[in-house]
Amino acid sequence: MSRSFRSLLVAGAAGFIGSNFVRLLRRTRPEVEVVVLDKLTYAGNLANLAEFERTPGYRFVHGDICDVALVDQLAADVDAIVNFAAETHVDRSLMDPYAFIETDVRGTAVLCEAARKHRHQVMLLISTDEVYGEVREGRSKETDPFRPRSPYSASKAASEHIAMAYAESFGLPLLVTRSSNNYGPHQYPEKLIPVLITNAIDDRPLPLYNDGSAVRDYLFVEDGCRAIDEILFDAPIGAVYNVGTGAETTGLQVAEAVLDIMGKPRSLIEFVADRPGHDYRYALDISRVTELGWEPQVSFAEGLERTVRWYVEHEGWWRPLKSGEYWDYYRRNYRPLVS
Ligand code: NAD
Ligand code: TYD
Repeated sequence: MSRSFRSLLVAGAAGFIGSNFVRLLRRTRPEVEVVVLDKLTYAGNLANLAEFERTPGYRFVHGDICDVALVDQLAADVDAIVNFAAETHVDRSLMDPYAFIETDVRGTAVLCEAARKHRHQVMLLISTDEVYGEVREGRSKETDPFRPRSPYSASKAASEHIAMAYAESFGLPLLVTRSSNNYGPHQYPEKLIPVLITNAIDDRPLPLYNDGSAVRDYLFVEDGCRAIDEILFDAPIGAVYNVGTGAETTGLQVAEAVLDIMGKPRSLIEFVADRPGHDYRYALDISRVTELGWEPQVSFAEGLERTVRWYVEHEGWWRPLKSGEYWDYYRRNYRPLVS
């Protein structure tokens, strides 16, 4: 089975994963028209999409997924919506949860309503492994209950509930991905890996919460985008997919690997006060997505090297982001470890 689309509305594609996805789509399926809708929050960056400006079959619209009239107008002219748009950083959700509820929950409802009204082929919601909450042992399956523990993950869980309610009540042709932690080029320097790399470039301390023992499944963004593509074009309507590598890496292992690649001393690592409600482990059962024919291709060692190289070679991309509001956030977020 394979779908074809004339035109897609890709919301939130000025951010990290969305811009990498548009790059994949434009390269591999140039016949599909792409309309990007993005609010350009602090995390949205037109530089991520600069190469597509004024190319045929591509259009950028500056706007909010919560804007009912705008979304309705754009949805009238496409076959499907892929939604990346969200507030995405756990630490910021602890400081300003309302922004997360507005965009992640209400915004998703606005997109679902438009997709229903205009009888779209697919509504693909990009969700997260964080909806399962901390997993002390074993691996989360798609059928496991939600136990979100941060305002971010609670808002993403709520967005899934809204979309699933639309699927049940109105037959919305829904697909959902629950991905582990993506990393790679174009990631805003607030998530762990770009914080570590950009700090190391400047010989600043690499902050690790508590003892750096929290485990994540780090997925190279190109692999993650290939999974999204596979699901969008080939998965049966109604399906939900975990997407990850199955590997487990601690924050301390990531920091040490970054420093080793860059030839910098381990003494740059600084343990700082823990994140409130920190989830110490996520782990996914990825058998369902592998049955669809997808598997990760880039090892963590290779992906991290490529990512370090990208940040070293693209200072002009990230350095302007680390100014003004960024440092206000940074100072609020990172506090000394009191043992
Ligand atoms: P990001 O923070 O880099 O980008 C988010 C984008 O959404 C930005 O361009 C921003 O301007 C836009 N946006 C925010 N609010 C908006 C609104 N109201 N209207 C329109 N646009 C808006 O995020 P990302 O890391 O690329 O994540 C993309 C999606 O993938 C999110 O839904 C996130 O929850 C999900 N996800 C991310 C990861 C990860 O590791 N980064 C893992 C699993 C799932
Ligand atoms: P993060 O990149 O924020 O993603 P997640 O949404 O999965 O929490 O954090 C990844 C892990 O790294 C998580 O266990 C928190 C930890 N972390 C640090 O130790 N230091 C940091 O500066 C950041 C941002 C995260």
